[in-house]
Amino acid sequence: MGSRMNRPTQIAPSILTADFGRLAAEVAAAEAGGADAIHLDVMDGRFAPNITFGPAVVAAVRAATTLPLDVHLMVEEPERYLAAFAQAGATGITVHLEATRHLHRTVQHIVESGCRAGIALNPASPIECLREISPFVDLVLVMSVNPGYGGQQFIETSTSKLRRVRKLLDEFNPTCDLEVDGGVGPHNIADVARNGANVIVVGSAVYNGDGTVAENLALLRKAADAR
Ligand code: DX5
Ligand code: ZN
Repeated sequence: MGSRMNRPTQIAPSILTADFGRLAAEVAAAEAGGADAIHLDVMDGRFAPNITFGPAVVAAVRAATTLPLDVHLMVEEPERYLAAFAQAGATGITVHLEATRHLHRTVQHIVESGCRAGIALNPASPIECLREISPFVDLVLVMSVNPGYGGQQFIETSTSKLRRVRKLLDEFNPTCDLEVDGGVGPHNIADVARNGANVIVVGSAVYNGDGTVAENLALLRKAADAR
């Protein structure tokens, strides 16, 4: 059994629902509000039904913050774009195991590009798919909504999925981070943290909530620490 490590909870605001007309200011507000990283949801309109942005926006965000950039590629054949996102300033690149035919080679290429390597699972993808690749990655992302949009409902079975993925990682890669993405807010952030997520993506709870970015982040931090 791998060691149960004490991992501080990291909060990674997703810019998906930020005001793109003021993106640099929105990112700076997240940094000032105590965010641990910026999560960038890249979608191609094929793997995910929505089209968002590419390397140019990642580069703009890179210029707007010193925080790590957690790039989530919801893109078919993401291996085609690894160099471009690494060049744009990504700190970590996460690809969907459903989107690439040769996952081990794709992970190798992410590492060779100088980025931390992440693997994302869609809600219906079984955790057993992680078994062989888990020793090679720095992060596993459990999607708790279907890829595409911010503001969706948290899929309740994701909590037990987090617990089971954490157990698998404790056995095969104890230092690997576990990230949850979608439908997380003050009402359930303690729950996902208690069940193994140590990197938590929050979009609409930060950018479309009632308060300022700083107030929303403080609320989330307080709720996360309440576990
Ligand atoms: C879905 C996106 C969202 C986003 C978080 O494709 O990945 O999960 O990051 O959005 P909220 O926190 O609003 O669900
Ligand atoms: Zn994401």
